[in-house]
Amino acid sequence: MIDQSTVERIMDAADIVEVVQDFVSLKRRGVNYLGNCPFHNEKTPSFTVSPSKQIYKCFGCGKGGSSVNFIMEHEHLSYFESLKFLAKKFHIDVVEEEESPEIIAQRNRHESLMIVSNYAREYFSNFLYNENEGRNVGLSYFKERGIRDDIIKKFQLGYCPDQKDLFTQAAQKQGYRMEFLEETGLSIKRDDWVRDRFSGRVIFPFHNLAGRVIAFGGRVLKTDPKVAKYLNSPESEIYHKSKVLYGIYFAKNAITRSDKCYLVEGYTDVLSMHQSGIENVVASSGTSLTADQIRMIKRFTPNITIIYDGDNAGIKASIRGIDMVLEEGINVKVVPLPEGEDPDSFARSMSSSDLIAYIATHETDFIRFKTQLLLKEADNDPIARAKLISDIVKSISVIPDAITRSVYIRECSNMLDVSEDIIYEEVGKLKSKVSEDNKVQEKREAARVASVARPSAEPLVGKNPCDVEEKALLRIMLRYYSHDLFSVVNEETGKAETIKVGQYIVAEIENDGLRSVDPLYQLVFDEFKEHCDEEFFNPERFFVQHDNREVCNLVSGLLVDKYTESTMWKRKGSFVEDEHEILHLLVPKLIEEYKFRQVKQMISGMMKKIGTIDPSGDLTQIMELQTVITNLKKVEKELSKKLGKRAVTS
Ligand code: CTP
Ligand code: MN
Repeated sequence: MIDQSTVERIMDAADIVEVVQDFVSLKRRGVNYLGNCPFHNEKTPSFTVSPSKQIYKCFGCGKGGSSVNFIMEHEHLSYFESLKFLAKKFHIDVVEEEESPEIIAQRNRHESLMIVSNYAREYFSNFLYNENEGRNVGLSYFKERGIRDDIIKKFQLGYCPDQKDLFTQAAQKQGYRMEFLEETGLSIKRDDWVRDRFSGRVIFPFHNLAGRVIAFGGRVLKTDPKVAKYLNSPESEIYHKSKVLYGIYFAKNAITRSDKCYLVEGYTDVLSMHQSGIENVVASSGTSLTADQIRMIKRFTPNITIIYDGDNAGIKASIRGIDMVLEEGINVKVVPLPEGEDPDSFARSMSSSDLIAYIATHETDFIRFKTQLLLKEADNDPIARAKLISDIVKSISVIPDAITRSVYIRECSNMLDVSEDIIYEEVGKLKSKVSEDNKVQEKREAARVASVARPSAEPLVGKNPCDVEEKALLRIMLRYYSHDLFSVVNEETGKAETIKVGQYIVAEIENDGLRSVDPLYQLVFDEFKEHCDEEFFNPERFFVQHDNREVCNLVSGLLVDKYTESTMWKRKGSFVEDEHEILHLLVPKLIEEYKFRQVKQMISGMMKKIGTIDPSGDLTQIMELQTVITNLKKVEKELSKKLGKRAVTS
């Protein structure tokens, strides 16, 4: 546990921009920062970070909150783990109890898996350097391959002893539970035996974006065709193969700096490139790229350069799936290597300056590269040529940017000797089909986002007719709760008193007993009312740090400057420049607007109810309802006069 004053020190130190920037590349936009949301796949940035409010908010998926929320969400850590994570980053001492095996065991599962992985990493690298077998077998293997000590240490490479279960025994002796050793795949357990997964292999740990170890790859040292060269950790709660890139933690800063990411296939390719001084490099670990991996790269740069193995199979494998990368608006280039080389062997065969020069001169645009390659293959076969054209057209049609598309169309028209018009026409056909498919998908996605943006316990059914007004009121309440609104004379004391914004809104809504149909809005309102008389109540902080995630999301959205002029005022065609100066006009008007809409809702609700009553039966209920409606209509009329609305119909 962490005491409250330490929590506050952490909160104060953990600047939201610094925290988010470790994971998302941000650009300044006015008073805020903008970037691509790390929580959903998006083409245009809608992830906003407000340094003044110390919050983030994604206007695409709705997620938002404080630095702590961000770390919880992004690193899948609990509240306290996130605080500790931030304390470490901002050098704030958190005194903790000594960790006994019991405490380790009590930690939540996710953290336990990370901890056991970290223990394994330490064990394997200690073994590599400090044990005879480690040095003679593992370390000498790395040395033979020409991998330097600084690279071995940086990537935390290791060696797992060539014995049945030496590692598992050591881990258990340290108090690590079999359950977690098994789930991470470090140990393989059957009814009557246990063994180490990585026995006799050199170890390549996988790090997540924050640098924590989540999985391992292990390479055999003997050449035995019956044994898989590489063995990897199985999927687990902390390791999803399709979502990680080998080397991303060590590459992310260099990727941002150079605005480019090199993509290679294997672990050793990454190591050798680093050794040659090229650090903006990640590996897909032998599979073709997935959407999640692309999204991860895209947080740092839209430019990917693929360095192909110089064999045909490698090239073919890499081409598959690249349309998906183009579709994301990423600029893809390729550097083909000479026959028989992979980036690892190639990098080691020359000086680092030669390597950099080679890459610079051989970097080719992907579409051009693909066209040339297929042209060579098709030779003069007309059917193969036709297929080739449609293949290239498909790649071009997924590129989101029209100017980029037109450049390619011109180029390919030259290379393929087909008129530009024909290519335009084909691209156009494919595009309209794609956009139809997208529309359906976007709609589905919107519905999904809308459904998760509600508290899971009690979701809002249907539409909230007062959504605009309630949002506007909540925003004003949160932002200007302690601003003076106006003075009134207290009837009892005869003294002038100032009414504050928060107080006024609460009183107005309470007096008329108005409620929101949206449980989330109502929850915020209720808690605001409960706390607003407290001396040091800071609603912005209170709600942004709320333990209900939906509340954090809603409130951070209201606080980020995108909503400075509410849609309501815009609707009337008048823009508000400094709204805090006209609160005395704005707030009462907003309240009236809200009441007006509520009254209209009530009237239509009662009309509906009247319609359901059997007119041949007891008429008192109908009469009562009619009286209420008549009264409500009077209120409606009054409000509408005040609001300057045109005559109310019916
Ligand atoms: N790979 C894997 N499992 C395998 C084979 C390959 O996970 N059974 C992944 C590894 O990430 C490997 C990459 O695919 O690094 C590329 O495979 P390959 O080219 O065969 O290996 P290299 O990286 O060249 O490794 P080495 O130089 O050690 O042979
Ligand atoms: Mn290799």
